[in-house]
Amino acid sequence: MVIQKIELENYRNYEKLELDIDSDTNIFHGENAQGKTNILESIYVACTTKSHKRSKDKEIIQFGKDEAHIRLYLQKKGINYKIDMHLRKNKRKAVAINGIPIKKASELLGIANIVFFSPEDLNIIKNGPSERRRFVDMELCQLDRVYLSDLTSYNKCLEERNKLLKDISINRSGDNSILDTLDIWDIQLISFGKKVIEARKKFINALNPIIDGIHGSLSGNKEKIELRYEPDVECDDFEAKLKSSRNTDLRYCTTSVGPHRDDINFILNTTDLRKFGSQGQQRTASLALKLSEIELVRTAVNDEPVLLLDDVLSELDSSRQHYLLNSIGGIQTLITCTGLDEFVKMRFKIDKVFNVVNGSVMEE
Ligand SMILES: Nc1ncnc2c1ncn2[C@@H]1O[C@H](COP(=O)(O)OP(=O)(O)O)[C@@H](O)[C@H]1O
Ligand SMILES: [Mg+2]
Repeated sequence: MVIQKIELENYRNYEKLELDIDSDTNIFHGENAQGKTNILESIYVACTTKSHKRSKDKEIIQFGKDEAHIRLYLQKKGINYKIDMHLRKNKRKAVAINGIPIKKASELLGIANIVFFSPEDLNIIKNGPSERRRFVDMELCQLDRVYLSDLTSYNKCLEERNKLLKDISINRSGDNSILDTLDIWDIQLISFGKKVIEARKKFINALNPIIDGIHGSLSGNKEKIELRYEPDVECDDFEAKLKSSRNTDLRYCTTSVGPHRDDINFILNTTDLRKFGSQGQQRTASLALKLSEIELVRTAVNDEPVLLLDDVLSELDSSRQHYLLNSIGGIQTLITCTGLDEFVKMRFKIDKVFNVVNGSVMEE
């Protein structure tokens, strides 16, 4: 896929923006707080309906305005698409593809595939399990509609079950009908939970050979890296464990067992990188993980994703910068940075350079 044009209206600090994007490498440079990340965010929102910063729609709409628009013109396998997103302050966003309104976000998935890379991604190994689950979920949801629907259902069941646990504790009612309802939620939770666990297992298995290859050439050594899925509970034990934790769950009004507590470990030879990795090792593994994502999307959708690099180069040392820039040839890339020094030093080929100043963008 290739993004040809972006149009924004009342999107964060852009009152109006129209940008023609090159099909190769685009650089957006400028001082801090000028609106570089906002451009990449708008693409992320148009392709996934959500902000990578987890901002709400009303935070994205320009201060003082009631609505915002994002329009993305893409080409995929020779076909042109226009994604039209209309963000409204107190209503759900409206999305249309080629002028036809869509009802489900998943309809975007077959069209728009992006890989977003921000400095926070380099902390994925150091951070808590929720960040690692989020990575897996974001990836799987982009690639697999069935997973998206199973995960959404699982989360809904979890929310309802937790709500019911609270109701029971408030009413102190152990009456049978309410406990029957809890049984029903348990069955649903187990059924969707097992699907989530199975899909995550498969995903990690598919990721392993890819990340190991990239990590090997990135670190220049023969250490073996392995992602290890650590499910909170195995499918076969889910029912029994949920049953035996029911009293605890009733006491704490929350569900203590299930894939919402999963983790993924990174093992280098035999070292647990989460706990014992040096910062350098953790960063190399995180970078390898992000680059694996490109490969994974490429094979899953049989097309090149668009790569969005938000200020990551300045976070990497020069050998990792080299590796990253060398490995992105042939795929459309949008890079934000404060200075252009790194590219000049590396004689990196840039196709379009934009200067971003206070919500306006000038091509250089
Ligand atoms: N809803 C909004 N309305 C108007 N301006 C906003 C909104 N949200 C953020 N901004 C402005 O956007 C700017 C930050 O943009 P950002 O893209 O993060 O900058 P950077 O160039 O550092 O990546 C700040 O000046 C901030 O005030
Ligand atoms: Mg930024």
